[in-house]
Amino acid sequence: MAARAEIIFMRDRYNREINYMRISVTQACNFRCIYCQPNPSSQTASSLLTRDELVCICRQAVRLGITRFKITGGEPLLRPDVAQIVRDIKAIPGVGQVTLTTNGFLLKEKLEELAEAGLDGINISLDTLQETRFREVTRVDGLHQVLEAIEESRKRFPTKLNVVLLKGINEEEWLDFIRFGKEHGVIVRFLEWMPLGGSKTEQTVDNRELIKLLREREPNLQKLKPKTPIASDAEKQTFGNGPAEYYYLPREKVWVGFISAMHNRFCENCNRIRLTATGELKGCLCYAKQDSLREILSDRGLTDNRREELIHKKLQKVIYEKPLMHHLENQEKTTEKSTMKDIGG
Ligand code: 5AD
Ligand code: SF4
Repeated sequence: MAARAEIIFMRDRYNREINYMRISVTQACNFRCIYCQPNPSSQTASSLLTRDELVCICRQAVRLGITRFKITGGEPLLRPDVAQIVRDIKAIPGVGQVTLTTNGFLLKEKLEELAEAGLDGINISLDTLQETRFREVTRVDGLHQVLEAIEESRKRFPTKLNVVLLKGINEEEWLDFIRFGKEHGVIVRFLEWMPLGGSKTEQTVDNRELIKLLREREPNLQKLKPKTPIASDAEKQTFGNGPAEYYYLPREKVWVGFISAMHNRFCENCNRIRLTATGELKGCLCYAKQDSLREILSDRGLTDNRREELIHKKLQKVIYEKPLMHHLENQEKTTEKSTMKDIGG
């Protein structure tokens, strides 16, 4: 209890409560999705935060009210100690949910270890249900493996599917995904593609258009309100407090989520900061601005207390200075030139 009493729930300068951190644990990925790595380069090895360093940072984050963590990458399951990282973060007093996002390729054999580590939920990225297209989009022959992982994951964890629809590539699959979600007991969410890494916006599918089409098919489409009764505890846990908006299709009896970064900016409710795999803190993925923890972590002259104090201060600064909103619609204002793989998805 003593540790909990020390938590301050920190707000940024726009009065948003920041309680969530996305942690990238590697920049490496075993897929090369066309929208994330349009020009794949050989993966350079840069020095990653160690598990101890990650835990030290999380401990300070918890003191500032950041109690929920998402482990991401690159592909986080490429990191051999990923389950141990989950276990260590879960063991910090005051930590709530720790969840993971993955492309699913290596998931099946890791599920047990992750469950034992206390992981609270999994988001699996899957952009097509067609084998040939899967190969074209990810440049890996792995649909079967990912589908198997989804089946196994949902037996142990609240499991969501993240689908990025791209114009002219997979956009017509959206109804297939809704059907798939229903048949397989997973919640499907459509993420609007964000033009990071110097790419153009024309590929983005507008989620408002999808919602309009859904309403034509299902006139009684219901938007989830905070108090909407939800069928099961697992579903309650699944909806979480992220930027997704959920709709219920009464005829199909299924929930569908939309994460509309481009056409329904949710920045006023943004509750997150990011930590890159190499120890940079970021308030928003649109901007190159970052605050490095590297020097503090590698300064052997510091006592542990002093190091923790400096990390704490840096976190406070990043939270306080979190930008008001992204400007991903404007290439000139989008100063971040890396893709999600390097920033952390
Ligand atoms: N815009 C939107 N989503 C993206 N992802 C990767 N790059 C982008 C982008 N530019 C997705 C992945 C994964 C999640 C972590 O982010 O497909 O589902
Ligand atoms: Fe695909 Fe995610 Fe890997 Fe990028 S990081 S190539 S989106 S699986």
